[in-house]
Amino acid sequence: MTADVWTAAGLRSRLESLRESAGFRAYQQVRDRVLQMVEAEAGRPPGVQTPSEYWSEELENFDYLLDASPLVVDKLRHHTYHVTGLRVYDYRSNNTATQRHFSRKLSALRKKDTAGLFVPEWPELGGFGFNIDGRLVNLDTLKFYEVLIALDHGAVLDEFRRTDERKIVWEIGAGWGGFPYQFKTICPNVTYVIADFPELFLYSGTYLTAAFPQARVRWFGDVPAERTFERWQDFDFILIPNTAAREVIRPPRLDLTINMVSFQEMTSAQVAEYAAIAHDAQCPFLYSLNRERSGYNTELEESVSQILERYYWLREIEILHVSYQKMLEDEPTPTDYRHLIGWRRQPA
Ligand SMILES: C[S@@+](CC[C@H](N)C(=O)[O-])C[C@H]1O[C@@H](n2cnc3c(N)ncnc32)[C@H](O)[C@@H]1O
Repeated sequence: MTADVWTAAGLRSRLESLRESAGFRAYQQVRDRVLQMVEAEAGRPPGVQTPSEYWSEELENFDYLLDASPLVVDKLRHHTYHVTGLRVYDYRSNNTATQRHFSRKLSALRKKDTAGLFVPEWPELGGFGFNIDGRLVNLDTLKFYEVLIALDHGAVLDEFRRTDERKIVWEIGAGWGGFPYQFKTICPNVTYVIADFPELFLYSGTYLTAAFPQARVRWFGDVPAERTFERWQDFDFILIPNTAAREVIRPPRLDLTINMVSFQEMTSAQVAEYAAIAHDAQCPFLYSLNRERSGYNTELEESVSQILERYYWLREIEILHVSYQKMLEDEPTPTDYRHLIGWRRQPA
């Protein structure tokens, strides 16, 4: 039972209890880590992984989250529109016409799913969405579900689900942490490595440590960089700032590299660098869900697939006739997102 916050006494009581909540405790610890990482980053000379123009602007938009009250953290998901653009307002319960579109799309995806991969939105930390059969569903939920189905159809996912042998997955740009949440739920026996701008760990670090309170997390900097992957099997998540990826992503094994809605926003050099890092680490699979280039990105000179093709042999997997941000009634267009699964090319 939560106190009514719209009275002075109720607000005090609610703040007191939220200060002790798993979410706010996670946030406080994460914020310290993020500040340490950002400070360490400031000492690095600009390089390939310096944020693109587009991302420099985005990062400034959510700096207010450095000073989030327990009430704000308790609704963290309402603030992730800075990352994936979803707004809680669009999921009001009276928005029945849109809800019907979502229900139909979920049913269409379920028909493609022979492995039971659906993971609904986590209702905590302000989780929102249409209530479909008692589960919260929003566009991010459906996107991640579609990605899991694509990985399954591409014959990649099964070996992560049914394995006694621990594996390593690396996601480049995991945003607010929604896909790692789904992937770790479906495939618990993986060490999930995220490389992102450290500022984004305010979201993903808080979300994942609150959602998986037992998870063991290694933050870049906990040990000297070259030991980041030491005893990697003991960790559920390893969080690395994007600029350290080249130096650090040399794990003893790397089983899958993932990127979604992110390569398209990078510079050509950044995409090539990430593909090369995965390739150098002998990663057998690279999965991408991206447009060939975001309309507003002028720093990507070639298409995403042209760059990836140099390192990975790509195969497209079609799940629905429309891409993830559209509903079944919409028309496909040439600028749509593509599910690509890459097999590592042998060095020439
Ligand atoms: C639009 S968000 C998508 C987040 C997540 N992949 C999803 O689909 O929900 C783009 C993500 O890419 C990250 N990103 C952008 N440029 C990057 C770079 N050079 N290195 C690593 N991550 C980057 C952003 O910080 C953010 O997490």
